[in-house]
Parts: sequence; C-alpha cells; structure tokens
Amino acid sequence: MTQALRLGIAGLGTVGVGVVKIVRRHADLLQARTGRPIVITAVSARDAAKDRGVNLSDYVWETDPVALAKRDDIDVFVELMGGENGPAKASVEAALASGKDVVTANKALLAIHGQDLAEQAEATGRVIRFEAAVAGGIPVIKSLTEGLAGNEITRVMGVMNGTCNYILTRMQSQELGYNALFEECAQLGYLEADPNLDVGGIDAAHKLALLSSIAFGTKPNFDGIQIEGIQHISLDDIHQAADMGYRIKLLGVAQRSARGLEQRMQPCLVPSASALGQLEGGTNMVVIEGDAVDQVVLRGPGAGEGPTASAVMGDVCDLARGLQISTFGRPATSLQEATPAITGLPAPYYLRLALFDKPGALAKVAAILGDAGVSIDRMRQYGHSESTAPVLIVTHKTTRATLDVALEGFRATDVVSGEPVALRIEEV
Ligand code: NAP
Ligand code: HSE
Repeated sequence: MTQALRLGIAGLGTVGVGVVKIVRRHADLLQARTGRPIVITAVSARDAAKDRGVNLSDYVWETDPVALAKRDDIDVFVELMGGENGPAKASVEAALASGKDVVTANKALLAIHGQDLAEQAEATGRVIRFEAAVAGGIPVIKSLTEGLAGNEITRVMGVMNGTCNYILTRMQSQELGYNALFEECAQLGYLEADPNLDVGGIDAAHKLALLSSIAFGTKPNFDGIQIEGIQHISLDDIHQAADMGYRIKLLGVAQRSARGLEQRMQPCLVPSASALGQLEGGTNMVVIEGDAVDQVVLRGPGAGEGPTASAVMGDVCDLARGLQISTFGRPATSLQEATPAITGLPAPYYLRLALFDKPGALAKVAAILGDAGVSIDRMRQYGHSESTAPVLIVTHKTTRATLDVALEGFRATDVVSGEPVALRIEEV
C-alpha cells in the first residue's frame, strides 16, 4: 500500500480540533483524493486533561511541541498554537531542521519571521504551507501562487478581519456604537486574546504582508504597512458615509507603482454597491487584480473551526500529493526587499468636519482646501447640533501629503471644532 502521510499536530484549540475532525471524518475521501492515507501520529497542547470533544486516544501525546516537531514518525508538522515567537517559532524551526514539511495557520509568525523560515525550509528542501493564515477558508494563497501564476499582479486588496467587518456592519444595521459592539464581540468570543490585534488592524496587516509578498515577489515587510484600526470610527461616519453612497471597511491594499510598494491597512470608504461594500458580518473578501485576468473576487468565511481547518487540510492534501511550491510562490532567496512608497497613490478622500455656526465658516474651509491644492468634488452640510454643524466633503483625487496640509489648516483655524475625520475612498 502507498505510504501514509503522517501528521504531528501542535495546538488542539479551535483550528486543531477542526483538523482532527476532518482527518477522522474524511479518511476515505482524503485517501481517494491524494492517493494515500493521511493519518495523525502525535499531538500536543498545554492541557492533556482537557476534554476537547474529539477522540485523541489513538495519538501519542507530546507535552513539548518542539519534541513533537522532531519525532521520526511524522512527515508533516502542523503548527496550530499561534504567536509570533515562543513555541510556535521554536517548533517550526525544529521541524524544518529535522526534515519535516510544515503547515501552519499562523499569520503573525510568518509576517514577522516568514523570510527566515522560508529560507530555512528551502535550504533543507522542505516546504511551508499557510493557506489558513490568510482569510480562513478562502483559498487565496493557492489562487495567487497557482491559479494566477501567469499574471503580473497589480493590486491585492480586501477585508481580511472578520471581527472588524462584523463591528462595522453591525454599526450600520443595528445603530450601535463601536464600544457596544466591541463588548458584543467579547461576549461572542470573536476577539483575539489581545483585541488590539483585531480592532487595531494588526491581524489583518499580518495577512496583507503575506499576500503582498506573494503578489509582488518581495520579502514580507510587516513594518512597511501603514496600519490604522477601526477604534475611532463613529456612528456619524457610518451614517454620513452611507448618505454619500459609501460603506466603511477595514481595507487592506497592496499595490506596486513607480513610487514603490504601497501597503495600507486602514478604514476606507468603498462604494455601497460594490462587492466589498456589500460584504456583511464576519465574512472576508479578497480582490486580486492581474494584467491578464483583470479582477478576481474571492469571498468566504475568514475564521472558525470548519473554514480554517478546511484550509489547513487543503495544504496537507497538497503535501500528500507531493506538490512542492516555494513558501511565497518563488524561491525565498530571490525575494526582493520591498521599497516602501513614500507617498501613496492619489485618491479621493471623505472629510467630516464640525463647523462653528458663524458667517464665512464654510468659505474658510473651502479656501484652506483650495490653498492646499485639494479640489472639492461634493459637499453636504447637515443641520446644526448646538453650536456646530457637520459638513461632509468628498474631494477629487489628492495625495495624503497634500490633504495633510489642509488638515493642518483646519486645525489652525477658528471655524472647525474638534479633530477633522479624513478617510480614503478606495476605487474598487
Ligand atoms: P486556540 O483555540 O487558542 O488554540 C491554541 C492551542 O494551542 C490550544 O490547544 C493550546 O493548548 C495550544 N498551545 C498554546 N501554547 C502551547 C504550548 N506552549 N505548547 C503546546 N500547545 C500549546 O487557537 P486557534 O484559534 O485554534 O488558532 C490557532 C492558530 O490558527 C493561530 O495561529 C491563529 O492565528 C490561527 N487562525 C485561527 C483562526 C480561527 O478562526 N480561530 C483563523 C485563522 C487562523 P490548550 O488547549 O491546552 O490550552
Ligand atoms: N481574528 C481574526 C478575524 C480571526 O476576526 O478575522 C481569523 O484570523
């Protein structure tokens, strides 16, 4: 009989248990598809006594994930513990050093250490696969590295953090403020152990760093990403953006131009009627643009036991079939240093200002924009609340640097109350 592919799984939480369930439930299907049995040899987690709702009695229990990674009776080390350092990094390094391929769902580990690990893998003839690390159940890594390999990729963008999209869309539909929805997410268990990873845009930026590397042949450059979270988005912004025909999304964009590589993870406005604008709840969406294919839109569940385990198993099946693809789609030593763009490509911006109710206030604002070289496309003033009136402005395309000059002007004038809100409008 063909030799079985033997897995060692470190981490038996949401994703790890999901993987065990698929291996057990679909043993025949997996063998039929890959031509060989896929079996679990050994597992590891912190608490051996915990009831995880699956039968683990057939597997060797290792208390130390590094020891698991080094076992002679596994072919693939499946890292599902999480964390950019600590046991995840140590065990992945140990697995590669002892000749194992690695499958991981750990975006933080690869966004920070991906280049070193990819070089280590290739030096030892091994493979690292990480479909589950980006957009959960959506096969986006496979699409980029395989299905779209014939394209020069021009832009990758998307909504890659389900928790943020859940909050933003519930703000819209339920008329609830950010703080109430943050609490709701905490109750529902949607937040990472460190919630700032979600709402601060860091988790999604980890994912963007990985997509960007594959798309543009650059070393993962997490530090080069401009990151802004959703904590400051107000119900007013949600409503007023909607009134102007937009939705607010935590949008990741990676784009290469003559200015360099632009990588942004920030709240942006997208047209309400666009596929991204219509994306509701915890669902993820990744949009890939290539010179030959034009635009591909991938949509699906970005997290959760089943979807994430599905992605892990896709990688495991590829390894069972003998598919060997470089970690970031081309040899790690050929990846270039990303030259970060100093200024982003021009875009229209949405501005929200609270104007004091006095003669000439609007004229002053218009003059500040004009002096800075920012042209107004549309403007709307709402009824006064107490002494101020909200004014919304959609600009023509401008750079952020130019806009910042105008924002500085607003701060210096006596007609604008509080901090102006400025959100990029992404053309999608
Ligand atoms: P989780 O539910 O918190 O599970 C983590 C598992 O790792 C637990 O079983 C834990 O053991 C084990 N663990 C932690 N430290 C360990 C150590 N030092 N030695 C041995 N085992 C250790 O996490 P998860 O949600 O499954 O996420 C796992 C990975 O998948 C992370 O990288 C995450 O970012 C990624 N991911 C998750 C999702 C998702 O929807 N959950 C989606 C995409 C990617 P105990 O159970 O004994 O505490
Ligand atoms: N916290 C992540 C999210 C989980 O909300 O999308 C999947 O990486």
